[in-house]
Amino acid sequence: MSENRRLSLSSKMNEDLKNLIIKKMGVDDVDEVVEIENQSFSDPWKKEFFLDEISNALAYPLVAKLNQNVVGYACLWIFLGELQIANIAVAPLFRKKGIGKKIMEKIISYAELNFLKRITLDVRKFNKEAINLYNKFGFKIIGKRKSYYRFPVEDSLILEKILL
Ligand SMILES: CC(C)(COP(=O)(O)OP(=O)(O)OC[C@H]1O[C@@H](n2cnc3c(N)ncnc32)[C@H](O)[C@@H]1OP(=O)(O)O)[C@@H](O)C(=O)NCCC(=O)NCCS
Repeated sequence: MSENRRLSLSSKMNEDLKNLIIKKMGVDDVDEVVEIENQSFSDPWKKEFFLDEISNALAYPLVAKLNQNVVGYACLWIFLGELQIANIAVAPLFRKKGIGKKIMEKIISYAELNFLKRITLDVRKFNKEAINLYNKFGFKIIGKRKSYYRFPVEDSLILEKILL
């Protein structure tokens, strides 16, 4: 997406989120996803990782699209009745507008519809924005992994949400 297009979409966003569509990621979405990934993380996933997610039977990658443009995504792994959020991000210009919450709602309803027992994830210990988002949805800290991340090295917190 061009910078002008992104700016114009972002300024219109405050109107509402009713045009936001969240659906399974397709191969055509991957270039935009990688752009957001590179803007969001110091140790980003490569394009091949996202392509693997699309073809992996145990994965369920999602994109959030606004007027056909990718504005966020999440990569989910489903294994032994549990869902792990392996990756989630919203494009910088579209943050703090409720898209992260919409993606989380979709993840939780997907897990519930598939009778999964719990959702887990790792998050950087000092990633305040993401930890606040997860707290909003009732995730609790169940552990940590020392030096789990690189660039910079940082511990992870392991968060869990039990589904009824
Ligand atoms: C974490 C992230 C996905 C949140 O997306 P978002 O669309 O901005 O989130 P929302 O607008 O839906 O906000 C949801 C909640 O997150 C928290 N939050 C989001 N941005 C925040 C900020 N800058 N400071 C503090 N809390 C913040 C708040 O609790 C917010 O709820 P509120 O608006 O009622 O206060 C986004 O910041 C992002 O992409 N970060 C970079 C990638 C990343 O760190 N991913 C997580 C990896 S574990």
